Amino acid sequence: MILVSGGAGYIGSNTIIALSEMGYTDILSVDNYSNSNPDAYKRLEKITGKPILHINCDLSDRESALSVFQEHKIEGIIHFAALKSVPESVQDPALYYRNNVNALINLIDAAEKYSIKKFIFSSSCTVYGTPEKLPVEESTPFGKAESPYGLTKQLGEMILENYCLINKAFRAISLRYFNPAGAHESGLTGEVMTKRPNNLVPILAQQAAGLREKITVFGNDYNTKDGSCVRDYIHVSDIAEAHVLAYKHLEQMTENYDVFNLGSGSGNTTLEVVLSFEKENALNLNYEIGGRRSGDVEKIYASNKKAKEVLGWKPKRDLKEIVRSAWRWQQNSPD
Ligand code: NAD
Ligand code: WQD
Repeated sequence: MILVSGGAGYIGSNTIIALSEMGYTDILSVDNYSNSNPDAYKRLEKITGKPILHINCDLSDRESALSVFQEHKIEGIIHFAALKSVPESVQDPALYYRNNVNALINLIDAAEKYSIKKFIFSSSCTVYGTPEKLPVEESTPFGKAESPYGLTKQLGEMILENYCLINKAFRAISLRYFNPAGAHESGLTGEVMTKRPNNLVPILAQQAAGLREKITVFGNDYNTKDGSCVRDYIHVSDIAEAHVLAYKHLEQMTENYDVFNLGSGSGNTTLEVVLSFEKENALNLNYEIGGRRSGDVEKIYASNKKAKEVLGWKPKRDLKEIVRSAWRWQQNSPD
């Protein structure tokens, strides 16, 4: 059985679909619904045609986390469960250190106790800070952590890499996502946030749905083709598929720890995303140009060469599919 932590969340739920499509049906989702809702499983069951086994558990609590492993025979862990809002982490750093780092430590503790050898960790391009060279390769050293959230991803990777040095039988992969966006093609499932989103694409979808009065594009004076920031937007279903490939790859790794970037390999400006959302969905968004957002990196996009060569991964969906699927889901979303 594979334990998917944070399986009711945005990327976890899409990964459950990908696992199921690629033949892994023995799955246990563990979530405390701090940023999701158990209704997600009903939607997943509709798509996969299979019941999703799930437990409500706060993985940052050691006893609760270990109890899951007493009750279920787990062969591997795909660990998504974390808090992910950069501004919230700046307001309450201890919440982020405690939740994100403790949940990881408790899962490693359980892996040690129950001889679990396979582990996939959700990391982020935020570990690079402001990169000097683009596209960013995995060999680029960590940058200065720009938020407590970003620090929890750096710490998470460091803890896993270090644990792999000690436990040679344990195999772990950290996947550094760039900007995950979009929703499952069915439009039946996507992100249900308990908090107001900070990410660009859900904000555009909310504005289109009339849930926000307007959008502010943060800055048009950057050194980019139209002055707005460049990011690497990558479809959530492509990210989900990469997890299944990474999970399979754990068995044939030569070293017992590795890291992969998950990005499209190219960048789009904020204004390009706004215009693409309008064009592909045949609607008008109410947006204005505002000042720069503090902490924003001017430009970042991934080299995805390593994930392509080693995992055999290929992103299949482009920006058009991202903005179309995001809008399809927004129209069905219970938000
Ligand atoms: P999400 O908030 O939709 O999903 C995370 C899930 O984890 C939620 O369902 C939440 O309720 C659960 N959770 C949080 N703390 C928990 C705890 N202590 N115990 C049990 N469950 C807990 O977020 P997501 O976008 O699906 O992100 C998944 C992972 O990917 C996170 O680790 C996040 O940091 C990382 N990541 C996300 C992005 C992004 O832009 N979405 C980018 C890079 C990395
Ligand atoms: C994208 C672009 C904004 C909102 C964050 C985390 C990162 C990773 C991915 C988890 C930026 C612009 C946004 C708006 C705007 N998450 N924007 N108006 O900041 O690249 O990355 O999510 O690990 O760690 O920091 O993503 O979606 O917030 O912003 O102009 O209302 O859209 O300036 O250039 P970001 P984002």
